[in-house]
Amino acid sequence: MRPVGRGAIATPLADKLAFAARTPIVTVMSANLVLVLNGPNLNLLGSREPEIYGHDTLDSIAAALEDQALALGIEIDLRQSNHEGHLVDWLHEAGARRCLAVILNAGAFTHTSVALHDAIKAITVPVIEVHLSNPHAREAFRHHSFISSVARGTICGFGAGSYALALDAAARLRQ
Ligand code: DQA
Repeated sequence: MRPVGRGAIATPLADKLAFAARTPIVTVMSANLVLVLNGPNLNLLGSREPEIYGHDTLDSIAAALEDQALALGIEIDLRQSNHEGHLVDWLHEAGARRCLAVILNAGAFTHTSVALHDAIKAITVPVIEVHLSNPHAREAFRHHSFISSVARGTICGFGAGSYALALDAAARLRQ
């Protein structure tokens, strides 16, 4: 048992209570939930280089995915952050909650982030990499993805349709 300060109760029960106070009691399991994670600059969809990314906004993509998810009997939770660490934390969350899948558009972090590569490897939840554009048909620096080698699969080049195809793929992972 670890040493205790004066006045503390040195019993196994007190230890257990102290541990419980620091530990979330319930990790909500989410076998039917797909996290749809979006990285940097994707909050600007609609106005950002529409000739490449189209006119759909992230809100309109979310609305279409909600309808599709309802029809498929799946739940989705779409999130966006410009910060790499948030995406790492959300991947860990998906792992802890044993989500059905993660759909990940890591934006430019696709081409730079060893941290996202490692986070995907650290969880057992299948990650589906998506891109609105086809990075292989663009600048050379977009040709390498740190995500692809650890993703279950990759869908790119279909605009907002890439997300719809990825959600269909996620539904097929149910047993
Ligand atoms: C993108 C492609 C990336 O190369 C780029 O950095 C993005 C968007 C896509 O969805 O096409 O931000 O992931």
